[in-house]
This record gives sequence, structure tokens and C-alpha cells, in this order.
Amino acid sequence: MCLADAGIVRVTYFPGAVPEDEPSYAVSPGYSAPGAEIREYDEDGVHVVETSLLRIRIRTEEQKVDFYDVATDEPLLTDEGGFGRESKDWTGDARVWIRKNLQETEHFFGLGDKPCALNLRGKYFSMWGADHYDFHEESDPLYKSIPFFLSLRERKAYGLLFDNTCRSYFDFGATDEKVLSFGSFGGLMNYYFIYDNTPLDIISAYTRLTGTPELPPLWALGYHQSKWSYYPDKAVYNLVERFRGLGIPCDAVHLDHHYMERKEGFTWDKQNFPDAEGMVRALEKDGVKTVLIVNPGVKVNPANPVWKEGMERNYFCRRSEGNLLSEEVWPGLCNFPDFTAPAVRGWWADLFSRDIGKIGVRGLWNDMNEPVVFPDRTFPMDTRHEYDGMPCSHEKAHNIYGQCMAEASWLGMKRHAPDRRPFLLSRSGFAGLQRFAATWTGDNRSSWEHLKLANFQCQRLAASGISFAGADAGGFMGHPTPELFCRWMQMASFHGFFRNHSSGEFGGQEPWVFGQEVTSYVKAAIEGRYRLLPYIYTQFHRYAETGMPVLRSLALQCFTNKDTYWRGAEYFFGDHLYVIPIHEPQEGGRFLYIPEGVWYSYHTDSLMEDTGKDVWVK
Ligand code: GLC
Repeated sequence: MCLADAGIVRVTYFPGAVPEDEPSYAVSPGYSAPGAEIREYDEDGVHVVETSLLRIRIRTEEQKVDFYDVATDEPLLTDEGGFGRESKDWTGDARVWIRKNLQETEHFFGLGDKPCALNLRGKYFSMWGADHYDFHEESDPLYKSIPFFLSLRERKAYGLLFDNTCRSYFDFGATDEKVLSFGSFGGLMNYYFIYDNTPLDIISAYTRLTGTPELPPLWALGYHQSKWSYYPDKAVYNLVERFRGLGIPCDAVHLDHHYMERKEGFTWDKQNFPDAEGMVRALEKDGVKTVLIVNPGVKVNPANPVWKEGMERNYFCRRSEGNLLSEEVWPGLCNFPDFTAPAVRGWWADLFSRDIGKIGVRGLWNDMNEPVVFPDRTFPMDTRHEYDGMPCSHEKAHNIYGQCMAEASWLGMKRHAPDRRPFLLSRSGFAGLQRFAATWTGDNRSSWEHLKLANFQCQRLAASGISFAGADAGGFMGHPTPELFCRWMQMASFHGFFRNHSSGEFGGQEPWVFGQEVTSYVKAAIEGRYRLLPYIYTQFHRYAETGMPVLRSLALQCFTNKDTYWRGAEYFFGDHLYVIPIHEPQEGGRFLYIPEGVWYSYHTDSLMEDTGKDVWVK
């Protein structure tokens, strides 16, 4: 056990006599533990460690660790069966788990991008980064693996980060309503217990532990337009002209596959983009930044200098027999950089400067980095990874591959333009992704169900340290009805990351596609975003400084009121705005819980008379 500060305790069970530690991809290298004054003593054969916040009772023989509030001696989290371990003799690895007592009044939140109601009590989840095309409510697992959750119980709350990168699970009373358990299929039982006064303080502490993000560049908090794909260059110019013509603000255009030659990263399709640099610079002059998609797979192609270099330097992943890992993705047969090796990350970073950064590209979009290979799979489990000096198989590196790619891309932008704050978007990630990237929720659908899920997912990501998150506004697959599109854009204007992206297969999804009336509402929503930008920037600054999330679910902000625990629609957007998106078609209004305090209507400025209860709002 190790104390990072008065409220953060790391608990690790080392199987051997000599502790053999592992690199942590979750904990920020920049985190400096303030340390804590502690008092230690023995009490009836139990070893007790106290800080100013916690009393920790350690029953060494039984390998049990129990956490109590030091002031009241109230139990916060105590072991039921405690620690368990089962060896897998054929690999030398082991399955590890912990069983804790689940209290009757306890409710759970967090865990990244899970597409379900906010409260996780009674459910079971897996952590294994997966591209779940056309996911739906309760699909699990999805793209990200963020093994951090919060427990709320009226006046008490705690957070827990299970820092283990192997396939893991969380059982919030699904199997036994009296047991909270989590575990993994390899690696160490290694968790951080985080205690503070409120859930928001706990999220801030978790975010500081796993790394606060840099303040995003102001433009990245504006509106982004995307599609799979805008091409040729003329289409991009026309798009921007249309925005400018209609007076709709837009700060970034994202280019998907078709900007590349044969879908190979770090190339430009010369036919469709004969003067890429000219285009990127002209857009920039017009106030529009170019963001490019880059996938991890490097096409097996001796004419491609990136592939040749990767081969010469031996930077691609290999299988256990030493043969290269070669799998199909968008460009065809590919090899895959081992982003878990620092040298490979450094090389990838330089590719950005050389081939993309120098022409003025201002942002990158990392996709397919769960990692995914066709059809619908990931790397074979015997793929080897460097794992920052502790080589391992894909079983252990899978969940952090995407984050390591994001780190490499982020490094590229930092190196290329050290005086500019980078903008990076990553689909996959682990705890701590916020140090490098913003994220989106992947391939959703144009449906009311998905609008609701997007609301839950963005709140949940913020509770998991990632406030710079959004969903494809309007939906990626399918075509929204005008009403759905309008409601979605209105909601997304109050998310951390605001991007309209679609698969392009079902017709356009630009703000003007759905008739004049909808265009005017959507324009108003985007303009509203820009009016709020100074406020949003300030909230992001606070997030970057302290880890305080920008989106705050009602239950997390008003956690002393247990009536809020099963509500999911309402959330706070920073310190002073309270949002309830419309979730249903033809909804003329809806019940909104108005928290205690002084609230004014955003639209009419009128004082909300009834607080602390449900009111019907239009
Ligand atoms: C994946 C991404 C999507 C992108 C598409 C083509 O499905 O999630 O956003 O448009 O690939 O690159």
C-alpha cells in the first residue's frame, strides 16, 4: 500500500516476495504526490494507517484492506471476499480480482463511454477496447477502457481507479447484489482508492492523478464540420464558402479517408488535392483549421517511405514466432507500429512534422486505434509489444495501444509547433487519455435513442476525466429527420467537443440541408456556442488547472439528494449553466428538476420560481 496524498491510496498485491512494479499508462508522469502525514498503529491484530481523511485497516493475514472516514469511523469501502488470484499455469499469468461489500444505499457512476443510463448499480461491464459498429443501448465493451468509477451514497462518495491494462471487468452487484467486484485476466491487482468531500472533488483528484489536459486552443472549442469525406479540394472550398455565405460560424473542417493516396497515412491524393498546402493555407486565412484523419495501419508498400522506414527500423509489431503482424485495414494489407515503444512514438511524432505539420495542418484525428483490423477483429493475442520496457503480449497492451498512438500524435504536434496548443481527437483510450486528446463516441446512429445515449456518454466521459468529448452530432449512420437534427445540434452545442460528422452514405448533414426553418434554429445554436465561448474557455481553463469537469451530471453535483441518482438527462455545463436536452420527438416541453439556488431561464431571463423540485419547462 502506498499513500499518494491524504485522500489517495494505492493498493497493490505483488504475487512474489519481491515487488515487481510495472509502468502505469494511467497515472501521469507529471503527477507529484503531495504526500501525507500518517499515523500508524496496531489495533487487535489489525494494522491501522490514518491520514487526515482516512482510516485504513489492513488485515494482513486475510489480505484485506478496509477504508473508513477518519472523522466518523464510518465504513467507506470494506472487503467481502477480498483479494483473489488464480494462476494460468500455461502462461505464468494470473486472473486477479477483489470482492468488496456493496452497501444498500450505494450507487455507481463513471467508466468512460458505456452507452447506458448513468447509474451503473446492478450492472456488469467489460474493459476491452472494441470498434462496435452500430452499437446500441447497453452494448459493451466499446472503444474506450476507462477503469475508473465513483460510488455515491448520499453524504459520502469515493472513487476507484483499477490500474490494470488487461481485459478487466466491473460487477456493480449484477451477480450478487451485496457484492461489488472487479478484476482482470492478467496483470496485477493494483487500484487507487480516492476520497474527498464531494464527487466533483474526487473527479478532480482522479484527473490530477491521471493528468490534467492542456487548455485546448480556443478554435477547437468552436464548431467543427466533418463527413466521410469532403473531396476534392473544390468541395472543401465550397463547404467553407457556404458557411461564410450563410454567416454560420465554423472553425474546423475534418478530412476523412479521401484526402489520402490509396488511403495511406501521411500522403495526399494528388488528383483530388493537387495543391494541398495551398488549400490548407487558404482555409486557415479564412479562419478554418484543417484536421486530418490518421489510422495506425501502415500499408505494406515498398514505394511508401513510411512503411520502408518502419521496416528498416524494426518498428512494426511482430507475432510470437518473430514474423510481422500483417492484417487488412482500409488501405489493404498493413503493418502496425508498436506505439508502446518510446522510440516508435518518437518516430511517429516526427512523421507529423515532416509530412503534415509543415503544410499547416492544425489537428489530427486518430481512428481505428482500439486497434481494429478487418473483419471486425483486433490483433492476434500473441502479438508482442514493448510496453515501455516490460515486453508483453497483446492481452496486456490491447487496452493502451490507442492511447499510446494518441501520445505519439500529440508529441508530433508539440514538437512541430511548440508554441501552439495541439488539437488531437482519438477514438480509443485508457485512463488518462485527456492528457493527449479529445474524444468522440464513435459510430452512432441518427436516432432519438442515440441522441439520448450521446447525452449520457458525454456526461459519463466527463465524470471519467474527459470533458473534451462529443458525439457525432446528427448521427454517423442513417439520416436524421429535420427535428432530430435540430435537437441534436442544440444539445451538442453544450458538449465539450462540438462536431457534426456523418458517414456520408445517407445524404448531407450540413446545417443547411434540412430546410430554412431548421437552418435558422441550427445557426442560432452554433451562434449561441460562440457567444458562450469566453465562458466555455474559462470552464476549460479551470478543468486544465484543477481537473474540475466541465460537464457535471445532476447526481454528481447534487449528491446529497438521492432522488437525483436515477436521473440522467440534466447536467451542469460549467459552474453557471444547467442543461436539459430534449430526448423525444414532438416534445413540447419536459419536466426538469431545478436544483436549489437562484436560476434564470436561458431563453427568457425569467427567474425560476420553484427550486428543489420538478417543474414543467417549454
Ligand atoms: C470509422 C470512424 C468514422 C470514420 C470512418 C472512416 O468508422 O469511426 O468516424 O468516418 O471510420 O474513416
